Amino acid sequence: MEISIQQTKAKDFRTTENITREAFWNLFKPGCDEHLVLHNLRKSKSYLPELDLVAKAENSIIGHAITTKARVTDKYNNEHKVLCVGPISVLPEFQNQGIGAKLLNESIAVAKESGFAAMILFGHPDYYHRFGFVNAQKYGITTKEGMNFDPFMALELYPNALSAVSGSFYEDKAFETNEEELDAFEKLFPKKEKGKPKIDIQNLAGK
Ligand SMILES: CC(C)(COP(=O)(O)OP(=O)(O)OC[C@H]1O[C@@H](n2cnc3c(N)ncnc32)[C@H](O)[C@@H]1OP(=O)(O)O)[C@@H](O)C(=O)NCCC(=O)NCCS
Repeated sequence: MEISIQQTKAKDFRTTENITREAFWNLFKPGCDEHLVLHNLRKSKSYLPELDLVAKAENSIIGHAITTKARVTDKYNNEHKVLCVGPISVLPEFQNQGIGAKLLNESIAVAKESGFAAMILFGHPDYYHRFGFVNAQKYGITTKEGMNFDPFMALELYPNALSAVSGSFYEDKAFETNEEELDAFEKLFPKKEKGKPKIDIQNLAGK
């Protein structure tokens, strides 16, 4: 299967939201909100069109990844520009065929050209270590709540990019959704049954 990675066109925004919904449905909670996060990221000041990528097989979109602007604020209140990776999604029937890796490798390549110091994400360590992501604690970067755990990871985009950066990581506000907004947004998609989450986030974070 020939896969190409391209920048997402505005006409494909809803398709990629649906792919995100299919990939995350009942994964971390009953239903999911990652498709709404994606929708709101595209309307935010953190949006970078060159880091909004689709994976195409023939003419169908089967995967998607977005990376947006974020910041690390240090103890002197200095702000350091970084990138936040995700949500990243591959349609369930196409998973485990290297498509997520292609999306992530291209995201990293584009990000390296961008001048940002690092990419930061919340994800499964087993998956992201292979791309060079390490526990963000190594760089003295915590979540905005001051926490560190294995799924909170960073990747330097050039040598020693984070040597003078430490502090708290703030992703775009679009990552915070509310149930009312989600219920209204859900009406735009085919009905799906909510069920028991497949992954326990608390467990993943070692809490
Ligand atoms: C995570 C995701 C984007 C990876 O894309 P993919 O095309 O399936 O992944 P690849 O084919 O590049 O890589 C497959 C490898 O990743 C591993 N992997 C895939 N998803 C994983 C996950 N959630 N946790 C841990 N490992 C995972 C597979 O076990 C496989 O490992 P192996 O190479 O050692 O056999 C895709 O599985 C997906 O959409 N998952 C649902 C949404 C999600 O979890 N997104 C990321 C949030 S952190």
